[in-house]
Amino acid sequence: MPLAEAIRHRVGIRTAAVGLITEPAQANDIIQSGAADLVMIAREMLREPYWALRAQQELGQEPSWPISYGYAVKRRR
Ligand SMILES: Cc1cc2nc3c(=O)[nH]c(=O)nc-3n(C[C@H](O)[C@H](O)[C@H](O)COP(=O)(O)O)c2cc1C
Repeated sequence: MPLAEAIRHRVGIRTAAVGLITEPAQANDIIQSGAADLVMIAREMLREPYWALRAQQELGQEPSWPISYGYAVKRRR
C-alpha cells in the first residue's frame, strides 16, 4: 500500500493497493484517502467469497448481486 501511494503521487499514474486488505472499511479508507485508485483482495476473497456483497452492506451501499444469481431465485405465483 505505501508503494502504491508513493508511485501514485510521485509519478502520477493509477495504482492498486494489495496485501492483507481484509476489511471493507480498510479498503474504503485506502480509496477515500487517495492512497490508491484500486484495492485488490486475494486471500480474503478465498476465505469469504461473498466479501464484496458484505462490503457493500457494511458501507451502506445497495448490494449488487451478479445478474446470473437472479436466475436461481424461485418465482412465486
Ligand atoms: C500462496 C500464494 C501464492 C502466490 N503466488 C503468486 C504468484 O505466483 N505471482 C504473484 O504475482 N503473486 C503471487 N502471490 C501474491 C498475491 O498475488 C497477492 O499479491 C497477495 O496474496 C497479497 O494479497 P492478499 O493479502 O489480499 O492475499 C501469491 C500469494 C500467496 C499467498
